[in-house]
Amino acid sequence: MRVLVAGGAGYIGSVVTAALLADGHEVTVLDDLSTGHADAVPSGATFVQASLHDSAPVLADVRPEAVLHFAAKSLVGESQVKPEIYWDTNVAGSLALLEAMRAAGCRRIVFSSTAATYGEPAQVPIREDAPTRPTNTYGASKLAVDAMLTSYATAYDFAAVSLRYFNVAGAAHGLGERHTTETHLIPIALQVAAGTREAITVYGEDYPTPDGTCIRDYIHVSDLADAHLLALTAPAPGEHRVYNLGNGTGFSVQEVVDAVREVTGHSVPVVVGQRRAGDPAQLVASSERIRSDLGWEPRHTDLAGIVRDAWETAQKRA
Ligand code: UFG
Repeated sequence: MRVLVAGGAGYIGSVVTAALLADGHEVTVLDDLSTGHADAVPSGATFVQASLHDSAPVLADVRPEAVLHFAAKSLVGESQVKPEIYWDTNVAGSLALLEAMRAAGCRRIVFSSTAATYGEPAQVPIREDAPTRPTNTYGASKLAVDAMLTSYATAYDFAAVSLRYFNVAGAAHGLGERHTTETHLIPIALQVAAGTREAITVYGEDYPTPDGTCIRDYIHVSDLADAHLLALTAPAPGEHRVYNLGNGTGFSVQEVVDAVREVTGHSVPVVVGQRRAGDPAQLVASSERIRSDLGWEPRHTDLAGIVRDAWETAQKRA
């Protein structure tokens, strides 16, 4: 299939681009390089540097049969202090992309949504029918795009899938996390192991969890890529499907730090800090819907394996 990947120079977009190419698709990557890296775009894909707001001429030229949309701002903390960036890029930018698709006659899309659309969960594991009450602008902006997709499916026969990611981690095709401002647990812990950071601050150990630290659902980026390939052809015109994507098992911050110690052989010093604003105690996905609808099955559920892939890729890059 001829596909356009918006945000294909970022961590997840570049891994999915590599998976699409390996599956025989013809891929054009559109990315403004505001947070992505040109050298992360897999060779074999055509690269166009442009923002979502300027995507119309690119789609008119490429005439894709489907779009995979990863391009977004994704820092929860930043979204609280600079909300305009999130409404502009994530919401207005996505609207511009949908309009560009409509003008180019493309009506199939897979969108990167997030667990942050649910906010503080009333029940864990979180199912897709859980209430969506985002507690930050990032989650609210992604939820707005989910609503756009429902209306474009109804009004314009779009075939759409929103994949609500939990904590994406690991590396594949030599591509891993590389953020200028790093806020995520696993890459930060690996920076400590690599000696580029002295210690990791654990944000709170007084949560109502067995060891007092927050529990998250870490999903390997390869498993996430598999889900995108399945989602690409799944919906019929007029259908907007929503799927949660996690591996269904929660790991605490403490367990992640222990896994990093085990994989790297480094002591990874820890400083216990205050809770980080807006962190729910526990976020674990029920991915039953995508398993039963699309036959998706995560293959890399072992935490140490996820950490090892991230570590080896980061080491090679260093
Ligand atoms: N954490 C620390 N120390 C750090 C970094 C993180 O203790 O230096 C803790 C956090 O408090 C949290 C856990 O590690 O409990 C995971 O934090 P991340 O920042 O790695 O990930 P989040 O769960 O906050 O965020 C992820 C995605 C977001 C998405 C969110 C959904 O990165 O994009 O899940 O809730 F919005």
